[in-house]
Amino acid sequence: MEQPIRPRRLRKTPVIRKMIRETRVSPSSLIYPLFVREGRNIIEDIPSLEGQKRYSPDTLPFALEEVCKAGVSSILLFGIPEQKDEMGSSAWEEQGVVQQALRIAKREFPNLYCITDVCLCEYTSHGHCGVLKNHCVDNDKTLPLLAKIALSHVMAGADMVAPSDMMDGRIRAIRQELDLHHFEEIPILSYAVKYASAFYGPFREAAGSAPSFGDRKGYQMDYHNRREGIKEAALDVQEGADILMVKPALSYLDVISEVSSSFSLPTAAYSVSGEYAMIKAASRQGLVQEAELVCETAVGIFRAGADMLITYYAKELANWMKEGRIG
Ligand code: PBG
Repeated sequence: MEQPIRPRRLRKTPVIRKMIRETRVSPSSLIYPLFVREGRNIIEDIPSLEGQKRYSPDTLPFALEEVCKAGVSSILLFGIPEQKDEMGSSAWEEQGVVQQALRIAKREFPNLYCITDVCLCEYTSHGHCGVLKNHCVDNDKTLPLLAKIALSHVMAGADMVAPSDMMDGRIRAIRQELDLHHFEEIPILSYAVKYASAFYGPFREAAGSAPSFGDRKGYQMDYHNRREGIKEAALDVQEGADILMVKPALSYLDVISEVSSSFSLPTAAYSVSGEYAMIKAASRQGLVQEAELVCETAVGIFRAGADMLITYYAKELANWMKEGRIG
């Protein structure tokens, strides 16, 4: 009788371990989120996000220098305005904080790819992602405002816009506005599958964008649902989205996997503030090894199907990739 063939484990030496890797990652797929606040000469620590800072537009180049040095080639900008009102009108001003930051960034670092978060929550006095009617977000009244914000970002130099508000129909509204002004080439990265999540806590501290009443469950998604996420993504595809994002990342790897296999668009994952803060806190206490854990979680997200990763660890990850820890 023939002996059964004994399977070999191809992982005995470092060379072959690397050769057979199924998931390849590189700094080119990392996006670094950055907070710009109004003012001058400001670089301030963000207590809820250890190691992250808020910059005023004039000091932003110091941050961008570090980003480029690490080998990260794209950023995601969030704005923190001085003035907030019911409508969030400082979000689309020509002299708004993100618009100022973009002009400086594009002048000083023309090759850095600048994506902007398009939302109202940092700009409204009530902290919701849209305008209100009787204490409820008015979806359809919000759409033209989001389109206006996106256009103002692009006019100031944004290479791509990323609406994170979760209103229905906003991808179409933004696409039409950009096309009307001959920005047909500017892509839209849609926060397509964004869950109402406790993982956003540290971000809301950082951006001062917590809702003053209620929550975002009326427009962000219920984490019990996966099919609904696919439906949200499908709608965004129809409306003209170019890249589909799933957010948060770690608790939603199944959704990342399904979005990436269901659509022929690139999939982005956002490893959000709470995911970052948890790893920071645990490693500060000596409970885990920071670099090991960040590498393992990042590769897990790519393995699930993400093509790109938005993470507050982008600079460190890029360096660890260059050192060959992961790659
Ligand atoms: C704005 C927005 C939020 C995040 C990205 N864009 C906050 C929210 O929806 O409450 C969260 C990002 C993070 O936690 O890192 N709507």
